[in-house]
Amino acid sequence: MESIEQKEQILDPEIEAERKLEELLEDPGSAFLHEHKIHINRIENAETAVEALAIAESIIMKRLEATFKFNLIRPVEGVETDLVNLEGIRKTLDTVKANQEKIGEGGDAYVVIAKTEIKKFPPEVCYKFAKAEATPRGRNPMAYEAEIQSDFYEQAQKLSDLHIGVPEPYYSSELGHDKLIAMEKLPAKSVDDILRGMGSLPEWFDIDRFCDNLEKFLKTLHEQGLYHRDMHVGNVMIRQSIEEPVDGWWGYVIDFGLSGYGIENMDPYRKEMADMVFTYHKDDDIIKEVRQALHRYKYIQNHNARKEV
Ligand SMILES: Nc1ncnc2c1ncn2[C@@H]1O[C@H](COP(=O)(O)OP(=O)(O)OP(=O)(O)O)[C@@H](O)[C@H]1O
Ligand SMILES: [Mg+2]
Repeated sequence: MESIEQKEQILDPEIEAERKLEELLEDPGSAFLHEHKIHINRIENAETAVEALAIAESIIMKRLEATFKFNLIRPVEGVETDLVNLEGIRKTLDTVKANQEKIGEGGDAYVVIAKTEIKKFPPEVCYKFAKAEATPRGRNPMAYEAEIQSDFYEQAQKLSDLHIGVPEPYYSSELGHDKLIAMEKLPAKSVDDILRGMGSLPEWFDIDRFCDNLEKFLKTLHEQGLYHRDMHVGNVMIRQSIEEPVDGWWGYVIDFGLSGYGIENMDPYRKEMADMVFTYHKDDDIIKEVRQALHRYKYIQNHNARKEV
């Protein structure tokens, strides 16, 4: 049983505000408060902790408002209406972060799903958060990535006979330090994950047909002026269903962080930015490697299966 004194302490708004203020000032996200004397003075000169906390929160809110960006690509069922303001996105991000489970990571970003019972977070949505760029490669801002992903997505829908999809992007947003894209979570694993034993190659999966189709897919997209420019085994995903999927998607091309539009008389694998020039691998270079690696994988898998019998 708590004593009366303990209860009073818990309920005392001054003590509660002091605790929250301390937490807030220690948060690396609020470092800018310390960098500007004017902010710290305003907080310190407040008469009560409750008032100081309110001042700190309002300064943080103003800064978030200044950095807030939201770009809706396609509505997400049950989510879109209360998302388009800062408070909505902030709540979404808080919930995602509190319940996140990482499902993938690359050099530029990590991808999470929100493990929550709340209905408004459909399980088929995942969130790609940008990391600080370790090696400058001229990566696209998230809003640009989401837009070009949307163009790839639309083309993939038109080319559905090739059975290669692209995750549907829903929106991009920037809020404080968070830069993200919300998109369809794929029921798939990257070729890289599969080769490293963190996924499988289903029985129905035809390696050669898939690779031939991937070649056609990339070629047709080039004709439409769309260049991926970061094709590697981490950016090709393979469906993980035991039976051949009825919706027809055998695999997917993901990650449009370096993608660009072809411009006449310009090398599509070269990007000039300010005083930097970036060059990228040709998209088709990946196909031979994927084909060989998957055949090798399958051979070893079959060999091991025979040994077990
Ligand atoms: N829509 C998705 N559904 C399921 N898993 C995904 C999805 N998007 C990405 N992933 C997983 O997350 C990993 C990292 O995502 P992504 O490739 O977009 O990040 P990146 O940091 O830009 O990668 P890179 O190092 O290639 O630049 C992928 O390799 C894949 O395993
Ligand atoms: Mg990647």
